[in-house]
Amino acid sequence: MKIAVAKGDGIGPEIMDAVLHIFNAAKVPLTYEFVDMGKWVFDKGFSTGMTPDAQQAIERLGVLFKGPMETPKGKGVKSINVTARKVWNTYANKRVFQTLHGVDTVFSKAGIPIRLTILRENIEDTYGGIEHMLTQDVAVSRRMITRPGCMQFLRYCFNMADKQGARRITCAHKANIMKLTDGLFLECFNEIAREYPHLKADDVIVDDLAMKLVTKPQDFDVICLTNLQGDILSDLCAGLVGGLGFAPSANIGEFISIFEAVHGTAPDIAGKNIANPTSLLLSGLMMLRHLGLWEQAATIENALLHTLEQGIHTGDFGDRSTVSLNTTEFAAAIIANFGKLPATSAVLSQPNHPVELQLVKPTENHMLVSPTHAHETINGVDLFVESAEQPGAVAEKCLRHPGAHFTLTSLSNRGTQVWPTGSVFTNCANVYTARFEKKDVPVTVQSVLDLCARVSADFKVCSYELLLQYGDTRGYSLAQGQ
Ligand code: NAI
Repeated sequence: MKIAVAKGDGIGPEIMDAVLHIFNAAKVPLTYEFVDMGKWVFDKGFSTGMTPDAQQAIERLGVLFKGPMETPKGKGVKSINVTARKVWNTYANKRVFQTLHGVDTVFSKAGIPIRLTILRENIEDTYGGIEHMLTQDVAVSRRMITRPGCMQFLRYCFNMADKQGARRITCAHKANIMKLTDGLFLECFNEIAREYPHLKADDVIVDDLAMKLVTKPQDFDVICLTNLQGDILSDLCAGLVGGLGFAPSANIGEFISIFEAVHGTAPDIAGKNIANPTSLLLSGLMMLRHLGLWEQAATIENALLHTLEQGIHTGDFGDRSTVSLNTTEFAAAIIANFGKLPATSAVLSQPNHPVELQLVKPTENHMLVSPTHAHETINGVDLFVESAEQPGAVAEKCLRHPGAHFTLTSLSNRGTQVWPTGSVFTNCANVYTARFEKKDVPVTVQSVLDLCARVSADFKVCSYELLLQYGDTRGYSLAQGQ
């Protein structure tokens, strides 16, 4: 089997060399095609941070093992790491956090073992980066959560939890506030959970989860989250087991998967051969298991755990009163421990079952066609209008324009209703949401556009959203106080 390898920037080449040295010593049956990717490629004028040859190789091989890459500074420059995840639709980010002996934490000292798998949706949410200024004072971000995106991600989560015999799979969300977006994520979770009746599936509000993770992390096993919440909570979990240096990461896609360390390029220590390769090594072990190379993964993991139990460490962790090893020496210490088992949490060795990678190129986008066919009705429209006037004055102007099809039912500002009822204590910014609901007549997108044109006589209409209903279900939220 051949995989693509990008060493990355900063400490990337040092830790990648150390990890590949360990792989070679363990006789991992892989060959590597080194590809050009990173800030240095960006500096050569490739705006995506990778050469066309690198892109072709990764698409041909289906697996990318990568070191950290620097995001060039400056407005409009996208992170190479985020671009890679999105371009190749690696929809599930998997991070495994486990207690490692020799890495002291509050929990390891208290004898509480941690083993958590955090699964984060990797494409959607605010990471779409769809942002606009409506006025000079008001910025909006469109947080898209889609049914096919959630289903694809959550199917992977349940399948993985089932395969690893998880004792619990938990959906974390904020559906009490974001009833439609996080509500959809939770709905999809519950839908798929019914296909796995033998798995204990439950849900928790994300802020409650944050508290529970720092008080009782051992209660959780597999946790599924949307992108931004998952980003924050996975770093919290890294803290529980000793920091980002011990957190591996896999970005799983239908055709292409990316395995990488979660820390950055550590420019402050780059070129000194003192970086800790553990995070990249653990990511590499996830990759070996993804490829069905169980035997070598177990040999290396047991040797790593044994090495850590011996108190061997690089400069960034461990007992400061003992000598720290450099990157090369640390890798050599792990290799010297091949065949040894850790006193606790030894990994059972299993024979290899190399997987057949799906290396076919997709010919069409199968997520476009929706399986849901509820009847759609337009109930009205929310017009986002710029105004520095008080709510009463804005209402007076809006009331000039509803025409025969619509009624102005409310004005809200930053999600709080300010007309027809409201409080003088509510602060307003200079974008109002004027909600026009349809009278007892059918309305079309054209009637909405006509309304928009009429309202434009008095305001700049910055944006609009249709108020849609699917069957009996309302597809829009109510303002607070409405
Ligand atoms: P960083 O993770 O590179 O460094 C933070 C601190 O942790 C530094 O003191 C560093 O020396 C230390 N550190 C990180 N990894 C280490 C290791 N393996 N061994 C020992 N010490 C280690 O984060 P920072 O400084 O915020 O980012 C630097 C660059 O890395 C930025 O350009 C950023 O965009 C990029 N980055 C790339 C990521 C990726 O490729 N997935 C992820 C995070 C950041």
